[in-house]
Amino acid sequence: MTHLRIALTALALALIAGISQSADAGKSANAVKAPKPGSKAYAAMAKAYQASIAPVFEAKCFDCHSAKTHFPWYYRMPLAKSMIDLDIRKARKALDLNDGFPFTGVGTLADHLSALKDIAADGSMPPFRYTMIHWSAKLTKAEREMITAWVDGKLAPPPPPTKKK
Ligand code: HEC
Repeated sequence: MTHLRIALTALALALIAGISQSADAGKSANAVKAPKPGSKAYAAMAKAYQASIAPVFEAKCFDCHSAKTHFPWYYRMPLAKSMIDLDIRKARKALDLNDGFPFTGVGTLADHLSALKDIAADGSMPPFRYTMIHWSAKLTKAEREMITAWVDGKLAPPPPPTKKK
């Protein structure tokens, strides 16, 4: 265990303690309408999610927004454990990505899409306390643009596989 790691962990824990000032649930600056289940737009959105968005979310969001957490080594420390558990509880309550599209968690699909558009715009997810340690979890500009396009129904689903002659 290096000193740097210990210092970063202490800093992260301090920041987790300030967790309540994170995302402001329910008040979206980017309210969007969701496509109706059964519609073409809905099916296209589900397909595009599976093909393009899900891999990003699995890599960068599932530690908190699903049941598939990779727990860090410091999870064994009592204080860290309770803070991480709380983080996951809050994250899954707001938006549970565990079972794919459509998501579960407080609110409607439109609420979830609006909140995703918000975080794609302001870069507030994953939280800084997380990306500080998991550097590669930060969303890239291209990923943020892709999420926005997807929420707006403008991300094309992958083309059907072409038949070989
Ligand atoms: C370190 C844990 C953690 C990670 C990783 C994380 N989140 Fe979150 N997220 C939270 C918590 C905690 C909340 C609930 C915030 C609250 O209640 O104040 C939340 C809330 C949200 C919300 C709802 C905000 C609202 O206004 O309702 C969205 C959308 C979201 N996260 C998207 C993401 C996406 C997308 C990723 C991956 C790119 C991600 N989060 C990664 C912890 C995390």
